[in-house]
Amino acid sequence: MQNFDYQTPTRLIFGEGVVEKLPGVMAQFGKRVLLTYGGGSIKKLGLYDKVKELLADYEIYELSDIQPNPKYDPSVLDGVKICKENDIDVILAVGGGSVLDCSKAIAAGAKYDGDPWNLISYKVKAQAALPIVDIITLAATGSEYDSGGVISRTETNDKIGYMDRLLYPVCSFLDPTYTFTVSKKQTAAGCADAMNHIMEQYFCEDSTLLGDGFMEAGLKSLMINARKCLENPEDYTARAEMMLACTYGCNGIYSLGSSYTGWPCHGIEHALSAYYDITHGEGLAIITPRWMKHILSEKTVDRFVKYGVNVFGIDANQDKFDIANQAIDATYKFFESINIPMHLKDVGIDDSRIGEMAHHIAVNEGLEDAWAPLNEEDIAQIITASL
Ligand code: NZQ
Ligand code: ZN
Repeated sequence: MQNFDYQTPTRLIFGEGVVEKLPGVMAQFGKRVLLTYGGGSIKKLGLYDKVKELLADYEIYELSDIQPNPKYDPSVLDGVKICKENDIDVILAVGGGSVLDCSKAIAAGAKYDGDPWNLISYKVKAQAALPIVDIITLAATGSEYDSGGVISRTETNDKIGYMDRLLYPVCSFLDPTYTFTVSKKQTAAGCADAMNHIMEQYFCEDSTLLGDGFMEAGLKSLMINARKCLENPEDYTARAEMMLACTYGCNGIYSLGSSYTGWPCHGIEHALSAYYDITHGEGLAIITPRWMKHILSEKTVDRFVKYGVNVFGIDANQDKFDIANQAIDATYKFFESINIPMHLKDVGIDDSRIGEMAHHIAVNEGLEDAWAPLNEEDIAQIITASL
């Protein structure tokens, strides 16, 4: 087992109606709040009005229209400006992972005198950040329980996962009923994203029996409950299980004691989203089975056997490569069965920029150090196989 040093400072408040506790949580900060949100889903949900009612005696400033794959310019820059000009005390992010990720970058940028891109691109280490409280409305990223945010910069085709211990939310509100309105497309993409977060931790050299069981159960819970959510969007238990499995996704708890993996599918997908602005979970679902096929080897096969037998119930009394290939096919078929488009051309990506993207990924994502190392040629082959 690998050594680790682990702490998640985020308070999770989970369940129907928990938003009523918002004033009590916000009371520990000052009265000046930056409320951040996306394109309007929180207004349709009634959550915008609810927050305004609960925080009636606060001074609320707003940053709206934060897009999926949140943009440095204008969203991060505008948010930092509002915080600095109005001496904001706390950020309240209400929405999906994009809103929360953007808010994390704003939180750090608000306490920094220079260009916030210096922080996001790791040129400068943040010394402070505004506190963040969130009400998450989409089960997917796990941003509500981790220290990262992913920010896109259109002009340079960068999509960077910016992580810093200062960026853990102080408190996350998780009410599964807010996810009843999430579309089928986003429900499926959220499931694929969270499944891939687990796989990025599962496929490694050194793992623990405990962690493997936790992750195998996480994958099964996500598959079973995503199907239920798609059949009945208002199935509270299914939405709740999905929300919790997603929340664990990115803060390291699934893989305590496991060795480094390099998160290769995320490294590749972030470039696809940066170049083509596609939905993150869909990009991952398309890449994952092709990555699996590409790295299957004598060195990696045993992990695929364990995955296939324990997650998909494949008969263990077969040739190990047969089991591994069945596991990869089952992964593909599951994503297909929840109506995720399974080819890059289905999401508007052709072969015209593969070389450019592969080079960008090879230079920026460090995948030569992954569990199954990937060089530029490997990356180009995986993207080509995904077309
Ligand atoms: O903008 P609004 O109107 O709010 O609509 C959003 C958006 O169009 C909508 N939505 C959210 N909650 C809803 C809802 N629609 C109806 N009912 C609700 N309750 O869903 C759309 C997608 O929202 P978005 O926030 O983009 O989705 P998600 O939560 O999947 O976030 C994706 C972003 O997170 C990053 C991704 O790269 C991507 O940029 N990631 C963040 C991670 C992290 N912080 O740890 C890890 C992930 O690997 C991921 O990279
Ligand atoms: Zn992800």
